[in-house]
Amino acid sequence: MIESLEGHVAEHLSLLTPVDQIWQPTDYLPDLTAEDWSERLRDFRESARCLPDELLVVLVGNMVTEEALPNYAVSLEHIAKDPTGAGDDPWATWLRGWTAEENRHGDLLNAYLRLTGRVDMRAVEVTIHHLIRNGFAPGHETHPYEGLIYASFQERATRITHGNLAKKAADRGEENLAKICRKIAADETRHELFYTRIVSELFERDPETTLMCYRAVLKRVVIMPGSRMTDGRDPDLFEHYGDVVQRTGIYTSRDYASVIRHLNNAWGLKDRSFGGKAAKVQDYLCNQPERYDRLAEERRGRPTEELPSHAFSWIHGRSVGEVRRGPAL
Ligand SMILES: [Fe+2]
Ligand SMILES: [Fe+2]
Repeated sequence: MIESLEGHVAEHLSLLTPVDQIWQPTDYLPDLTAEDWSERLRDFRESARCLPDELLVVLVGNMVTEEALPNYAVSLEHIAKDPTGAGDDPWATWLRGWTAEENRHGDLLNAYLRLTGRVDMRAVEVTIHHLIRNGFAPGHETHPYEGLIYASFQERATRITHGNLAKKAADRGEENLAKICRKIAADETRHELFYTRIVSELFERDPETTLMCYRAVLKRVVIMPGSRMTDGRDPDLFEHYGDVVQRTGIYTSRDYASVIRHLNNAWGLKDRSFGGKAAKVQDYLCNQPERYDRLAEERRGRPTEELPSHAFSWIHGRSVGEVRRGPAL
């Protein structure tokens, strides 16, 4: 089935942007070859001074996740098989094109963080090193459809995360970072469209299996790509980063619900007709957005929660998250 989708994949290769028309990290960084490079760099660093620790932690976690791109390329290789590494069939072309576009995200965020001097880059690099060594286990090796459904979910989640960080950065007056995050979010949108359309086609050609795979992905509670990160000191680094992400409102349970709602609509789940067990699964999936919204609502009703502070090596051991002032939903 995956192979038979080649024609469909080929039709959607235009969702990759030609190299001569796409931005590169250098376009959003101070020009270090200019005569007045030191003033440009000084202004760039000055602009980043307004970022609070919690946004720095979110930004580092996002960047580390992007930098572990080799893990995701390996995982997609299971689906878009390219045994020679230079094949010219549509799946291979997509996979390499996607990887090349994604590669700019980690590069740009890495350069931003390095040049602003706001974080401990060595600790960040150690985290990237660990994450790539630790790998990525989303659990969809059992069926290739699950990988494509997961990718649809993940590209949208990433788009929301970068988009919300752009808004928070702009609110603080850090327009350089806002622009960078908006640009990355726009790439994620194109990638999301690709995977979502491929899965739509799977729903047309093989509806029941696709439905079951969608349920399998959600049942597992979508595992985040950076979930195996550590800095070698904090074994719960990912949870601590995730806590800051939720508290700052960059990505919350509500966003999780909104991603499922969006995918359900994009795949016309409500209007498809299934019988027997599949109809029950369809119901289950259609109810998921409301279920997560309800959970988010319950969380909101809870009283302010005192949390132990988490020290992050990324920001020289400073702590973030002493008090949870009610979830930021
Ligand atoms: Fe990305
Ligand atoms: Fe992405």
